Amino acid sequence: MASEEFARSAPIGVFDSGLGGLSVLQHIRQTLPHEALLYVADSGFAPYGDKTSAEILERSIAVTDFLQCKKIKALVVACNTATAAAIKHLRLHYPDLIIVGMEPGLKPASILSKTRKVGVLATLSTIQSEKYQHLSTKLSAETGVEFIPQACIGLVDQIEKAEANADQTWLLLQKYLRPLLDIKVDTLVLGCTHYPFVAKLIQQLTSAYIPDGDPITLIDTGKAVASQIQRLLAERYLTNTSRDTPHIHVYTNGNPENLKHACTHWINIPEDKLSVFTFNT
Ligand code: DGL
Repeated sequence: MASEEFARSAPIGVFDSGLGGLSVLQHIRQTLPHEALLYVADSGFAPYGDKTSAEILERSIAVTDFLQCKKIKALVVACNTATAAAIKHLRLHYPDLIIVGMEPGLKPASILSKTRKVGVLATLSTIQSEKYQHLSTKLSAETGVEFIPQACIGLVDQIEKAEANADQTWLLLQKYLRPLLDIKVDTLVLGCTHYPFVAKLIQQLTSAYIPDGDPITLIDTGKAVASQIQRLLAERYLTNTSRDTPHIHVYTNGNPENLKHACTHWINIPEDKLSVFTFNT
């Protein structure tokens, strides 16, 4: 194989603390169906949201090293928490790698909100990060929109346990959403890649709480990240030119059955297109 062709056919690596990044992988797969994709769920170390920045950075480097050994051509940090804590360092550590991270969709939310009050659901670590604080202060000053952050402690654990529909999940969401709805938030930013997996529940809860109001707008940036990676690959002539739809390889240091279930049932990857592995980094 010529070296350009080899470079183009290399995989895109995607990682998250666990299953949440699959919400981003789904968009990448739809946008770039001919790319080889490797997904790492660092579930053995989830959740990241209550860890220190130094711990999150250490895990992000370990997982990126693992993916680098698989000769990836690009990396998607499909985790808001890891992006906030580690993306600067990852870019310094791996200067030749295309790296795309997550950014909570505050900008689209500021355009869509009519009440000018936007709730931002994220992990505690993301909300406390310099990156988030800087973005929300800047956008608030520019647009006059008020961003009200809500750390959803415990929600990632529920989703990791595949208990999105359990009573405990509903109670947690009630606790976190009601105060936001009471102050007339009309737009909610899903600032953690796990949360799209409870988007339906959020919609149900908000319409039960304000039955006569307009449905709440939810903002998820997974699709924008897929477009960004598509653009960067094209710019560097690294888009795969093969018309095959390759197998998706997924790795976990947690429970492989959970990961397999999430891939086949939550984002509908056909079983015959999926290979599940464990790793112990
Ligand atoms: N999916 C994550 C995020 O986007 C990780 C959350 C966690 O592990 O706490 O922030």
